[in-house]
Amino acid sequence: MFITFEGIDGSGKSTQAKTLVSTLQAQGKSCIWTREPGGSEGAEVIRKLLVEGDPDRWSAETEILLFNAARRDHLEKTIDPALRRGATVICDRFVDSTRVYQGVARADLRPLVDLIHETMIQREADLTFIIDIDPEIALNRGLARKSGEDRFEDMGLGFQKCLRAGFLELAEQHPDRCCIIDGGQSIEAVERAILHAYTRVTS
Ligand code: ADP
Ligand code: TYD
Repeated sequence: MFITFEGIDGSGKSTQAKTLVSTLQAQGKSCIWTREPGGSEGAEVIRKLLVEGDPDRWSAETEILLFNAARRDHLEKTIDPALRRGATVICDRFVDSTRVYQGVARADLRPLVDLIHETMIQREADLTFIIDIDPEIALNRGLARKSGEDRFEDMGLGFQKCLRAGFLELAEQHPDRCCIIDGGQSIEAVERAILHAYTRVTS
């Protein structure tokens, strides 16, 4: 099973993706955690180009190509081999981020994002958790980390609001696999909501 976590910056995706991996591993399931951009040696090199530096370092079109180059390597080296050996793959961001960041918020390029995805990647998640949260809360959480990877956070609050709307619209377009989780709750309450939804889908 291929499970993805999506949402705006600082919504709690990484925290929750890692917790779900630990919970499933504790149940004896074969399960790996991975992330985008990154998740393989080559894709991590491309990640640095994308998340560091000036907000206008790349155009939205160039970003689409870089994210897809990273994703193709990630798919070949990490995701597909794990799925082939029967593991559950839990991925912090995947193509829905490109659909919303480059397809809606950075530019109006959704058809181009979908075309490149269909041509070069094809893989879709079986289950996607969209962690929904007020962008002001998320931005404060995210920037408080001071990770040095703040190129997208630096695009500002208006950008994060547009992303939030984009993710909610995406969930409406794919109700079969998308599950919206309220990220404004405590870490433990979000964990419970995710586990509840996972159990409902898999049992
Ligand atoms: P993302 O991966 O979506 O950017 P993170 O999981 O890295 O988000 O969380 C961003 C910050 O907010 C981290 O410092 C994390 O510990 C904190 N955090 C995550 N979830 C919650 C929550 N439900 N309540 C309060 N703080 C949280
Ligand atoms: P990530 O490290 O997940 O950021 P955060 O922890 O702040 O949520 O991702 C890095 C940034 O890359 C993030 O701001 C979202 C952006 N991104 C895109 O714009 N398009 C994409 O396809 C992906 C995967 C990420």
